[in-house]
Amino acid sequence: MVIFGAAGDLTKRLVVPALYNLAKAKLLPKEFALVGFDLAPLEVNVWKQNLTDMLSVFVKHGTDTGTVDADAWKTVTDGMTYVQGDLTDAASFQKLKGKLQEVDNAEHTGGNYIFYLAIADRFFGTVVEQLGHAELMKQENGQWRRVVVEKPFGHDLASAKALNKQILDVIDESQTYRIDHFLGKETVQNIMMFRFANGMFEPIWNRDRIDHVQITVAETVGVEKRGRFYEKTGALRDMVPNHVFQLVAMTAMEAPNSFSANAVRSEKAKVIEAIRIVKPGDVPCHAVRGQYAQGNMDGKTVPEYRDEPDVAGDSEVETYAALKLSIDNWRWSGVPFYIRTGKRLRKRKTAISIRFKETPGVLLRDMMVRKPAPNWLLLRIQPEEGIALEFGAKVPGPTMQLGDVRMDFKYEDYFGTAPATGYETLIYDVMIGDATLFQRADNIESGWAVVQPVLDYWSSNKAHDFPNYRSGSDGPTTAEELLERDGRLWRPID
Ligand code: BG6
Repeated sequence: MVIFGAAGDLTKRLVVPALYNLAKAKLLPKEFALVGFDLAPLEVNVWKQNLTDMLSVFVKHGTDTGTVDADAWKTVTDGMTYVQGDLTDAASFQKLKGKLQEVDNAEHTGGNYIFYLAIADRFFGTVVEQLGHAELMKQENGQWRRVVVEKPFGHDLASAKALNKQILDVIDESQTYRIDHFLGKETVQNIMMFRFANGMFEPIWNRDRIDHVQITVAETVGVEKRGRFYEKTGALRDMVPNHVFQLVAMTAMEAPNSFSANAVRSEKAKVIEAIRIVKPGDVPCHAVRGQYAQGNMDGKTVPEYRDEPDVAGDSEVETYAALKLSIDNWRWSGVPFYIRTGKRLRKRKTAISIRFKETPGVLLRDMMVRKPAPNWLLLRIQPEEGIALEFGAKVPGPTMQLGDVRMDFKYEDYFGTAPATGYETLIYDVMIGDATLFQRADNIESGWAVVQPVLDYWSSNKAHDFPNYRSGSDGPTTAEELLERDGRLWRPID
């Protein structure tokens, strides 16, 4: 595995710890060899030491035993190599090619290469072109060559299309692994299993029984030190066409013919393509933006977005976005999907909440009981991973009273927790050539097509009410209105 951006943060924080966890789980082949590529002039031993130091911290703070498993770490680091090079320089790629031949001979890697682009997105296309020129992407004599592309993949529809073209002019779609780290989360993968491996849910999973769906990706963190990135990005681009739409697709897709990569990705693509693209004039009725004001979180005062480092004092960038989506297909017609995501919200919580239709009510109409609460199925993605069902039950006693009750399944109770970065499954899948959990070119483009009118409208119309939600709150009141107009309410972020 060649990591471009070997000296960077992503490599240290996620990619290498994930490799270590794979080695511990005995899922890393003995012949594995790691090659770092970066501009920094590092000796391989210094690079190795940096990674070892970082891993010790990672292991100490994780849910692990507290000490690094030396054998596992040796599997990752044995035969590691470092290439100092420039991403835009053809000679550097020739140097890399020479090194890879040496590694093949010494480590018996068989000419199978994964190129991991842990670099700034403006270099994604260039690096793939360079790999192509150096003939490093040619798959001959049973060898395979794959590229892992990080996020963000484009910053709008046009740039995503251009990047897809630039990459696919050099390599085949089957060699391209576009990461969306939400798909590395166990609970996200479980949505498909929950739906398709259990007979009881599918018959009610449609417009006949479901009133609407709410998807919440709430964060408590602010923009932290990423002001420069975030000022060009905003909540919509950062979270919606990628992560949130993955949750929409998993929830709304039809059963695929098999769990093969293309079967699954085709069904997901169909869902996103079925989302109605709003006309520019309709954007205000379907989309809400917000920006956090100062507030109190965990007893501490936190600054407003405009006072964060590297953020303009009059920034118009949204830190919160909510959309009402209509999926125009046979299963979901008339069932709105309300999605929201934001920073500095009351609680960190990612959940899919499915609200079922109410009973006809004729039976209880003339009785002195309050109206039964609606049934909710809650798929909790993080941090308290689980699935819950809310329904009404008779309160014991001589009079007829209804109480709200909840059945709750917690992953931890059944399966415990394993130390994981969320990248283990993704990296493992690249190694075995399974692209199911990666975004195909069409998935990416249809996601951008849905948000494009909103991006356009927001960039050409000022947000007059920013900042419009207090840090530590549930978001702007305009988001409440989005649902109230339809006679509905968001579930509290609690
Ligand atoms: C990233 C975004 O892709 O996802 C971040 O750029 C966001 O802004 C993060 O905080 C959320 O991921 P997770 O795994 O912490 O829920």
